[in-house]
Amino acid sequence: MSLVTVHDKTFCTYLTEKDIQARIVQMAEAINKDYQGKKPLFIGILNGAFMFASDLFKHLTIEAEITFIKLASYKGMKSTGNVVTSIGLDHDLYGRDVVIIEDIIDTGKTLHKFLPQLDHQQPASLKIAVLLHKPEALQHPLNIDYVGFSIPNKFVVGFGLDYNGLGRNLKEIYQLDGNNE
Ligand code: XMP
Ligand code: MG
Repeated sequence: MSLVTVHDKTFCTYLTEKDIQARIVQMAEAINKDYQGKKPLFIGILNGAFMFASDLFKHLTIEAEITFIKLASYKGMKSTGNVVTSIGLDHDLYGRDVVIIEDIIDTGKTLHKFLPQLDHQQPASLKIAVLLHKPEALQHPLNIDYVGFSIPNKFVVGFGLDYNGLGRNLKEIYQLDGNNE
């Protein structure tokens, strides 16, 4: 187990690069199977999902498109519940098979607010692929179709996830150390 400091906090390894990459391959295999013969549109949610989206997309063998939108609701270590869109959607979803790619579902507020906007465009189907899910923190029921790891309700950084802007470049996922919460 290794420790890393991000700003003023200490985090310890929770998921290794090998664990993450092996799980992403399995998720891609499930998606390849489910979307055989279709041409889904993947929507990555920036900033946090950029690394997961990139690695997941590399393992897709189906014909697929990807685009990104930028949503934010987090400040420091707390979800504000106030979801701000700073880069919007540039595709028409009507009749498309759409898969949202998200780094983590915590309270579920972000997707709970955003999904109706997508549904409104009448996609043929709308699914969610998320690397991390904190079931204990979920406040809004969400149907999550592809989950990488269900994790405890502790703040995590690395592999695209940040603490106040830093830590995204870490190849592993680190959990806030119990001593400095
Ligand atoms: P909600 O609560 O709306 O949260 O499901 C979704 C967004 O909040 C960010 N988030 C985190 N970021 N470590 C992070 O670095 C965490 O433990 C964490 N929990 C939530 C993330 O951007 C996610 O998309
Ligand atoms: Mg995010």
